[in-house]
Amino acid sequence: MTAIAEATSRTPRRTSSDAEFARAKVNLALHVTGQRADGYHLLDSLAVFPDIGDRLRVSPAKATSLVLSGPFADALEADDPDNLVLKAGRLFFEHSRQVAPPLRFALEKNLPVASGIGGGSADAAACLRLLADRYGRGRADAALVGIALALGADVPACLAQRPCRLSGIGERLDPAPPLPEIAIVLVNPGVGVSTPAVFRALETRDNPPLPAFPERFATPEVLLDWLRATRNDLQPAAMSICPAIGTVLDALDARPETLFARMSGSGATCFALCRPADAGPLHESLARDHPDWWIACGTV
Ligand code: C5P
Repeated sequence: MTAIAEATSRTPRRTSSDAEFARAKVNLALHVTGQRADGYHLLDSLAVFPDIGDRLRVSPAKATSLVLSGPFADALEADDPDNLVLKAGRLFFEHSRQVAPPLRFALEKNLPVASGIGGGSADAAACLRLLADRYGRGRADAALVGIALALGADVPACLAQRPCRLSGIGERLDPAPPLPEIAIVLVNPGVGVSTPAVFRALETRDNPPLPAFPERFATPEVLLDWLRATRNDLQPAAMSICPAIGTVLDALDARPETLFARMSGSGATCFALCRPADAGPLHESLARDHPDWWIACGTV
């Protein structure tokens, strides 16, 4: 029996997880430490995956389709072959040498697109986890990381969805020290920012790496002290392209609940860290003053 015949003769495994949560990726700190010959930048970043995200379901169908719902569904095209969910599906079956069965992907798009929190990468990673459960060797299959990397530099991190230190071009993962209990509020002013444009606008590309990590971030204060010694090197460049980022950061810094505020990734989404009991009031006061902003709160 050929590999393809063998693979397609397998009955898809039913799993309890036909829906998958695709968590936002938030860069609490992001240093740009160099640039490769191919133009990609070397990064050193602490990334976390709060309980804020998209939801993806997959089910057998007569023909493959992508069905979009949720507050940011209109920002995507259901028939765009470059959509990362469809691309992830194609690549998964190509790599596992299986004929791709027709599938219906239903994506609830809760995260703003092109917003510095890895929404597309999170969706692609969720798709790989679902397909690995149903049609592959499970999500612990090492080959999955290679497929993820082929889809984008930060898809491997989104596959794991655990706090981590990212290096290389964002594809190298090391576990982050344990984090304290702290809440996060994400804010996006409704402006998409082009990641390549932000990287092009950088003034310096050879900044020092992140400072040494403590063994654990034992209290919020330890984390906040460490963060104050770090930067997001993409923030000044992103703010020059998208001044609304400055407005968001000023609004977050002005709130008494905010312990620390910064932009994530290449923007425009910014985050505020606060005590868990302060997340609701912070969310409410921001929503009252800025009804057109996307605001979501969760736990780091
Ligand atoms: O990973 P993603 O597809 O979001 O990257 C979009 C673009 O951002 C890349 O094509 C590249 O121009 C830039 N980039 C970079 N260095 C990285 C990640 C992204 O220059 N480490």
